[in-house]
Amino acid sequence: MKIRIFQDSETASSKAADLIARLSQRYTRRKGIFVLALSGGATPRKLYEYLGSGRYHNLCDWDAIHIFQVDERFVPSTHRDSNFRLLRKTLFLPASIPETNIHPVPTEAASLSEAASRYEKAMEKFFRLPSGKLPAFHCILLGIGEDGHTASLFPGDPVFEEQKRFALPVENAYHPHPRITLSLPVLNHSENIIFLVSGKKKASVVRKVLREEDPSLPASLVRPAHRNLFFYLDRDAASLLS
Ligand code: 6PG
Repeated sequence: MKIRIFQDSETASSKAADLIARLSQRYTRRKGIFVLALSGGATPRKLYEYLGSGRYHNLCDWDAIHIFQVDERFVPSTHRDSNFRLLRKTLFLPASIPETNIHPVPTEAASLSEAASRYEKAMEKFFRLPSGKLPAFHCILLGIGEDGHTASLFPGDPVFEEQKRFALPVENAYHPHPRITLSLPVLNHSENIIFLVSGKKKASVVRKVLREEDPSLPASLVRPAHRNLFFYLDRDAASLLS
């Protein structure tokens, strides 16, 4: 677990963008491809704006980078609460990422469970998975909610116990919309995980996750076995860590 604490959220976001760029160079050099899954919410907006900016045109070979979503609200992709809408505005359009490299959650599906199973099938096809095997993302970017949720895995919600499925419908999300989320086993199968957390309001949950490792919090259970786990925090979010 690599914890890095930065002066402010802008710096944490730009350093996280640099880390993603470095990882993308390593994977595209070695494997010819870099497969990334990105979260929504407010925190990563600045990170996505950095990645979509001119500075990263030369650092990231976007033709070789494929982007999936960690989770999505079950709303149209034009809805103001859509994570896809955030990614499209801040990253996909500014970086001219090829449509074929963008793998959104199919929120146009007729139902929440159909969206989850279609998304799961899209991952099976893309990763060419034999049955029972989990997709191995090269890097997953996560945030943490004040209640300790990550992706759309909420404390006390049975979905975070799911061990087999890749993408899950989350009916009773504690937000205005039902959601689709990657499951905990998929998160823990990633080769690199980056948590980007900022702001004083997150200080208490950061302490619970990093120091107390409170097992009731989904963010505490993201511990990819033998893989790289990064926490990029600003000083406010880290202010209760000894
Ligand atoms: C989402 C995110 C979610 C987010 C946390 C933190 O769809 O909302 O994937 O898991 O990372 O809720 O959200 P903020 O960054 O807005 O605090």
